[in-house]
Amino acid sequence: MDTVRDAERTRVAIVGGGPAGLLLSLLLARDGIDHVVLESRSREEIENTHRAGILEAGSVSTLVDAGLDRVVREGDRHDGIDLRFDGEMHRIDLAGLTGSAVWLYPQTAVFKDLADRRAADGGDVRYSATVTEVLDLDTDTPAVRYELDGVVRELRADLVVGADGSRSVCRHVLPEAVRRSYSYEYPYAWFGVIVEAPRSAEELVYTASEHGFALVSQRTPTHQRLYFQCDPDEDPAGWDDERIWAELQRRVAGADGFTLKEGHVEEKTVLRFRSSVVEPVRHGRMVLVGDAAHTVPPTGAKGLNLALADVVLLHDVLGTWLRTHDDATLDEYGLRAGRRVWRAQNFSAWMSRMLHSHPGESGFEARRRVAELRTVVESEAGRRFLAEGYTGWGPIVQEGTM
Ligand code: DHB
Repeated sequence: MDTVRDAERTRVAIVGGGPAGLLLSLLLARDGIDHVVLESRSREEIENTHRAGILEAGSVSTLVDAGLDRVVREGDRHDGIDLRFDGEMHRIDLAGLTGSAVWLYPQTAVFKDLADRRAADGGDVRYSATVTEVLDLDTDTPAVRYELDGVVRELRADLVVGADGSRSVCRHVLPEAVRRSYSYEYPYAWFGVIVEAPRSAEELVYTASEHGFALVSQRTPTHQRLYFQCDPDEDPAGWDDERIWAELQRRVAGADGFTLKEGHVEEKTVLRFRSSVVEPVRHGRMVLVGDAAHTVPPTGAKGLNLALADVVLLHDVLGTWLRTHDDATLDEYGLRAGRRVWRAQNFSAWMSRMLHSHPGESGFEARRRVAELRTVVESEAGRRFLAEGYTGWGPIVQEGTM
């Protein structure tokens, strides 16, 4: 293999070209700050991976402020969600309770908007570039070594930003001696399907039933996204359309007669549940953003929103840091992002535990969870607590000053 020995120089080396890396790239380009994005996957691979579909109002404002307004033209604003238990719907009026809302707009669409814009603006985004090493973090010129087109190259920068997702290479560069990892593995997962059918409900329906959790979401007039709780080791191959529909219908069934509109199952995947946080998010001349630093279980769809919020908070201090190189500025990012991350960890874990049946749970616990759901929906304070978390606790940049 050839090796290019002379390192290229830029100001910010962004490892990862998913939504977080590309949003940072767009914001830096707007500030006229030289940077390069290195992404290990191809554009097609990222675009064809289905992910969650809910954006908080703060994420939508971030995209719109960055000049990407397809989300408000083509996305669906949802002013409420339903919690369904004991076979009945309980609407949470997000807009009435918080003055805010969420948008149904899939992560793949967010990625496409960002990638198209960076391409149109001539942004330096290198796909299929595999980062193998991150070096010299304790010097003024950290470097990233990567392989592209069979050639090993080196990029030197003032700062390396690890935006490389849950299988982050950058995270592993944090020395054991400073790294603090916190995680929780859940004993259940989601079986996610994309089906060819009209929507079964206008808003999202989070369902707790004696047979386990189910989520009714939407996508387009012809295709829908549905999920149901399953074993983490479930094999999708063992589930044909008939079995999938029978399971989904029995979870949402109730006295009100609610049923799902059925159609051909086009895709099926098992999504594992994990809560994790790594700290600190700055080490020397590297910072971590998004899934590289933390993952949440999918209940409540906080993952993408947290990643975009990290980038907004980092960008807020980056101009100052690039002028002063004062590490306290980057640590300010860590502090503000960390507060938001832990709040979202709590919210996602709370929603998950309240709505899923724990394998082998006692009758007491099952009845207690229904009582918890009832306590939330029957009190305005309870509904507001849920709505504030679901919509993302207001604007991102106020974070840390609250
Ligand atoms: C979707 C995913 C989620 O995790 C969630 O909480 C809501 C919606 C979705 O893919 O549509």
